[in-house]
Amino acid sequence: MTIDSFRPEKKITTFYPPQRTLLGPGPSDTHARVLSAMARPTLGHLDPVFTEMMEELKGLLRYVFQTTNLLTFPVSGPGSVGMEMCFVNMIVPGDKVVVCRNGVFGGRMIENVERCGGIPLVVEDKWGDPVDPQKVEDILKKNPDAKIVAFVHAETSTGVQSDAKTIGQIARKYDCLTIMDTVTSLGGTPVYMDGWDIDAIYSGSQKCLSCPPGLSPVSFSERVVDLVRNRTEKVHSWFMDISLLLGYWGSSRTYHHTAPTNSLYGLHESLIILYEEGLEHSWTRHRRNHEALKAGLKTLGIGYVVDEAYRLPQLNSVHVPTGVDEKEVRRRLLADYNLEIGAGLGDFAGKIWRIGLMGNSSKLENVIFCLDALEHVLADLGTKVDKGAASSAAHQYYANNPAV
Ligand SMILES: Cc1ncc(COP(=O)(O)O)c(C=O)c1O
Repeated sequence: MTIDSFRPEKKITTFYPPQRTLLGPGPSDTHARVLSAMARPTLGHLDPVFTEMMEELKGLLRYVFQTTNLLTFPVSGPGSVGMEMCFVNMIVPGDKVVVCRNGVFGGRMIENVERCGGIPLVVEDKWGDPVDPQKVEDILKKNPDAKIVAFVHAETSTGVQSDAKTIGQIARKYDCLTIMDTVTSLGGTPVYMDGWDIDAIYSGSQKCLSCPPGLSPVSFSERVVDLVRNRTEKVHSWFMDISLLLGYWGSSRTYHHTAPTNSLYGLHESLIILYEEGLEHSWTRHRRNHEALKAGLKTLGIGYVVDEAYRLPQLNSVHVPTGVDEKEVRRRLLADYNLEIGAGLGDFAGKIWRIGLMGNSSKLENVIFCLDALEHVLADLGTKVDKGAASSAAHQYYANNPAV
């Protein structure tokens, strides 16, 4: 048997992906320095040189999460693994968990609670709205035995940001632990884990951290460490059991699993890039590029789904203009311009686009490129546009608001 018999219509040979510009809901464009770091020689996952780098990684992650938590490290797996790690370690069957759902990922949290044998107490908000902290307080008043409050800081399915500080304070007032999803927020918009009383946090490497997908930074407070230490029932996942993983990421450095060493070099490099830029500068850059995009989209008659006060700068959820074949627009952008933008999910499918300006993708040249390409495609498909107006409006915004 030869490999060609598996796919007779095409000879299998080296895979060369096209060079796209990734302006969807993630992944974003990987930084060239990250790609080059990942191409360095593979080390054993217990090599002393590698374990020294792991220590630096933990420190860099504390910086981006703004926490002093000792238990801060990247999990080998995508954001979904970070999410599951929080739930499987913190819930025992019968636990009541308040879960806030205002989009797809809050729904996944409910699924996690149920699979852990917990009882989800769902705080429901409309897609496109932030989590209403008052509803969280109301449900906690009615359920004094609730143990955890879980919510998504930046809901990628809608482009909305919730008030993490207030939710954290309410949870603490009712003596609950908090689980916060920062897959889309980390690096792009302020996250203050300690300042907001967050106990468990997870993120993903592929959005505002400018890395490829596949790693999930997590951090846990001492309160979570105590909870896990005092569990009488084994965590239902061997791989995600924090107390076992600590043997590897803690001081003893014993084998747990073969860590993805080259991916971790990439994350290390991306966090150094973020550190060099400075978190605040990164947040400002994301905001500035969002504002420029917004100015350009306005000239095309394209408006936002989310109220200005709750809008994520790194994820622009916008209405597809009436009468436009949104799928064809995305197809043309990809085929003719090598440009990816995202579609709507769930109730928003076919109605919105999600334009990501995340991490290394959040830059002036991408904003201008996206506006020009979108304008041309829309015009080609019969929409009346004022040619050149979109990118001019963005340029104008940049000129009036110089980078700091
Ligand atoms: C808010 C949010 N949470 C969780 C996830 C899951 O992350 P992953 O796809 O890396 O497993 C995503 C992915 O887009 C996300 O946007």
